[in-house]
Amino acid sequence: MVRSEGGRLSVALVDVNPGHEAEFLALATAFEAVLIRKDYGRADTVRDEAHPLRFYIARHWRDAASAEQCHADPEVQTLTSRLYRLARVTHVVNGVRRPDPLRLKLDDRRARAEADRRTGFDRRSRNDGSPTSVERRATRDRRLGPRRVRDHAGHVDLVGAARRAREHADAAFSHFKVGAALEAADGMVITGCNIENATYGLTICAERVAMFKALSEGHRAFSRIVVVADTDAPTPPCGACRQILWEFGGNLEITLANLTGATANYRLKDLLPLPFDARLLGDRS
Ligand code: THU
Repeated sequence: MVRSEGGRLSVALVDVNPGHEAEFLALATAFEAVLIRKDYGRADTVRDEAHPLRFYIARHWRDAASAEQCHADPEVQTLTSRLYRLARVTHVVNGVRRPDPLRLKLDDRRARAEADRRTGFDRRSRNDGSPTSVERRATRDRRLGPRRVRDHAGHVDLVGAARRAREHADAAFSHFKVGAALEAADGMVITGCNIENATYGLTICAERVAMFKALSEGHRAFSRIVVVADTDAPTPPCGACRQILWEFGGNLEITLANLTGATANYRLKDLLPLPFDARLLGDRS
């Protein structure tokens, strides 16, 4: 077991290339053994039940220095370069301090408080005859100002977030405004809108703005994206966006929506059936 208070956690998501599972499992076992033998910490390899060739490798470093020593260790580097040849590796968590139990309790409390962020007298629980929040919302949304993305626990209004992002679109040339809301694996929602410019060619779509914002803020794993435009049939992402979403987000759930509430759901693999990505580049070092 890992002892120190300064423990660090890293998690990598590993998509193993078809036909290489046995080789991957042998590598993972060798990697786990090195971490223990050299006292860097320990590693667990967990299979994703929903995706046959997807695994998570959680590395629990003894401390930040052990993590660094491990990365610099030639034996580990050999294993890592073999891993990169037989799988696509996405670093989901990079050496964060392992949360202590007290901190977890506080975070949990904060999460619960977030479900109801009304302050003062508005926190009433007594029924005084006025409509409940559910009744109010069923008729008309009378909340003022920016709306919460997370309206109640477990439900994230990604369509609403994408619609609001669309309002920031700078589409002075096409007048075609698009909004996107991308959900990261940790539940964070990152939005984007299309931004055009006088050369036309440097235009960047809402989906790529959202993805690049997310990557630049350290997100590396994503679950779904919503794209909103004002068209009769919901607008699908352009080819360039499909490519970027695939390379950085994998087989995302995609919801296309318009302003009248019509939606269509896809998986990215359906929109980009024969993708090109880094796996095809192989090992050319
Ligand atoms: N656009 C997007 O932002 N996303 C899409 O999925 C399709 C197209 C933008 C690019 C350009 O600013 C405008 O819509 C017209 O093509």
